[in-house]
Amino acid sequence: MNSKIAEYGDKEIEFQGKYHRSVFRLIIWSWMRWPMRSIGIILLSILGRLAFIGNTVIVGYWADSLCDNKVYCQGVPNFASSWDNNDYILALLIFTALSFLFTGFFQSLMSVTGLKACEKIINETMYRVSRAPAAFFDKNPVGRVFSRFSTDFSQLTTSMGLHLSNITGNFVEMLLMLIFAGLTSLWFLPLFLTAGILSAVTYNMNKMSIRNERRNTVSEQAPSISHFAATVQGANSIRSYQKEEKFLDKFGELIQKYFLKKCTAELYFQFYSYQLNLITALWIFGCGVLGVYLIEQHLVSLGEVGIILGFVSMISSLFQRFFTLISSLENGLASAERLNDYVRMPIEPNSLLTPKSEFDSGHQKEQESLQMSLSDQPFPLLTIKHLDFSYGEDLPLALKDINLEAKPGESIGIIGRTGSGKSSLFKVLLGYYGFQKGLVTIGGKQLGLCGQEKPDNYLGLKEWRSQFSYISQSPPIFRGPLRENLTIRSQEDRKVADKKMLQTLEKVGLEKWFQGLPQGLDTPIEEGGTNLSVGQKQLLVIARCLLRKAPILLIDEATSSVDPYSEEKFVKTANQLLKHKTRLVIAHRLSTLTDCDRVLWLDGGSIRMEGRPEEVIPVFTAHAGTLENKLI
Ligand SMILES: Nc1ncnc2c1ncn2[C@@H]1O[C@H](COP(=O)(O)OP(=O)(O)OP(=O)(O)O)[C@@H](O)[C@H]1O
Ligand SMILES: [Mg+2]
Repeated sequence: MNSKIAEYGDKEIEFQGKYHRSVFRLIIWSWMRWPMRSIGIILLSILGRLAFIGNTVIVGYWADSLCDNKVYCQGVPNFASSWDNNDYILALLIFTALSFLFTGFFQSLMSVTGLKACEKIINETMYRVSRAPAAFFDKNPVGRVFSRFSTDFSQLTTSMGLHLSNITGNFVEMLLMLIFAGLTSLWFLPLFLTAGILSAVTYNMNKMSIRNERRNTVSEQAPSISHFAATVQGANSIRSYQKEEKFLDKFGELIQKYFLKKCTAELYFQFYSYQLNLITALWIFGCGVLGVYLIEQHLVSLGEVGIILGFVSMISSLFQRFFTLISSLENGLASAERLNDYVRMPIEPNSLLTPKSEFDSGHQKEQESLQMSLSDQPFPLLTIKHLDFSYGEDLPLALKDINLEAKPGESIGIIGRTGSGKSSLFKVLLGYYGFQKGLVTIGGKQLGLCGQEKPDNYLGLKEWRSQFSYISQSPPIFRGPLRENLTIRSQEDRKVADKKMLQTLEKVGLEKWFQGLPQGLDTPIEEGGTNLSVGQKQLLVIARCLLRKAPILLIDEATSSVDPYSEEKFVKTANQLLKHKTRLVIAHRLSTLTDCDRVLWLDGGSIRMEGRPEEVIPVFTAHAGTLENKLI
């Protein structure tokens, strides 16, 4: 299946028609992890229902055995013909206990297995999303992704953990009742079959409209959540512009659309429910009339009609429940369909899937052999030759014919007006986006495609990225202990000793602050570092880079959020402490760059000038019509 995710614009995708078979393949895969258990579950459900239904039969035959009017009570000789009252009571007790036992086991086993299967699907989705291309996050607002990871997860969990076990139980029960009804008296079988066929036909007639309405309801939910997430993120700006009403109106509009869809879906469902009610009402009426006629004709006994009517009343409510549950299961299927879309989407160019992934979605998986080391070159040369890059086929080039050579330990400043391509250059270097033309190498090796034939000259994405430390325009601080914020929870950094972390905190000048923390390295840090000062956050980020062994440092100076003095101090401190690394520094405050070996001036995606800071900066400031040190 070709994933439609890449085509997503601002509208959530709407699925139509039949479910793609890959959705069922994913669900079956998630269950088939435990084949023997799945067979056991079906067996338990049959035994439990068998014992339950057996009770009805026993009561019918018992009633016949007590009946004085022998004409109306003579049915076909059966297994209980020679039983006395005690036998009937004992049989009822045994059957009740068995049905209780088997059904209990069946339901709990099925629910647990269903939830485990769900966990599998959710994990597989996470593995792909963690490797999703940068373009995916550009096109999918956080609210949409959040909606999938909350609504779809919970719907899938309810369906697989609850609905599926009820549906299986109901189905087995209905099937067994039909068999028992047939064994008790064949006269009623045509009516049973007609009711079954009519219910199935009605379901089929309504299926598509209910399904599509339910799917559309789910997709109408995401835009309102996206809007809500964006509103919460920008709450302060919205308040300062006094635009709360506008945002509320927009939310109202989106949520109204969602509820309209939900109402339509519910109306479709209610209409279908009325049709089912009509079928069962006619069915019970038919069986009652036929029963009385057959007793009068001495073709069935009173007890047998009792058994049949017992079955009819049970099956009629089961039919209703079964088809209602099937249509509730559609919610789970719609969610599985949307998660399946994530599971099959293309992952980052050059990237490999984590070895933890078990589901075969056609993506290549990581193998240890692909991880090559550049350890023989602690400070490799970085070269860029004739690089052309654009964010999309129909978008203009963001970088044009870029040529650069960064020698080990060299520091290069990058300047240019806003939108000139400075951050884009870093994104390409980090392999977030594939480029259209040119060559980028580190230590003579280029970023290789998965399964490349000449591994000597190529690096896998993981190894490639391990060559860089990156300080973005807004470096992330995670919610969690200080220790994890220093190592960013990465596998290889887990080995970093506490002593090393303390030394690093001392090096960046955070020792005084650290000494005042009673919980030391386990001190909890809030999301975005809200319990830290701006300066502390910056020094923490520098400490993070110092702890990482990467030989190349990329700093994208922040344009906002900090005062110019703090930012300049930050970049200079980072430059000073990390001067043993090759550094590429994007600077908006030109005074930051006076210590650089070279400066590169980007203009409209191309290199306009390159040279010593004292050569390039004056020309640039004259061109930009700004004074040195002024924000551009
Ligand atoms: N994710 C994206 N998708 C499409 N186009 C993008 C994306 N990011 C940036 N661009 C475009 O690429 C061009 C270069 O952007 P870039 O972020 O590299 O500028 P910059 O020099 O870093 O600017 P600033 O100084 O404001 O940070 C701009 O025209 C921008 O609109
Ligand atoms: Mg930028």
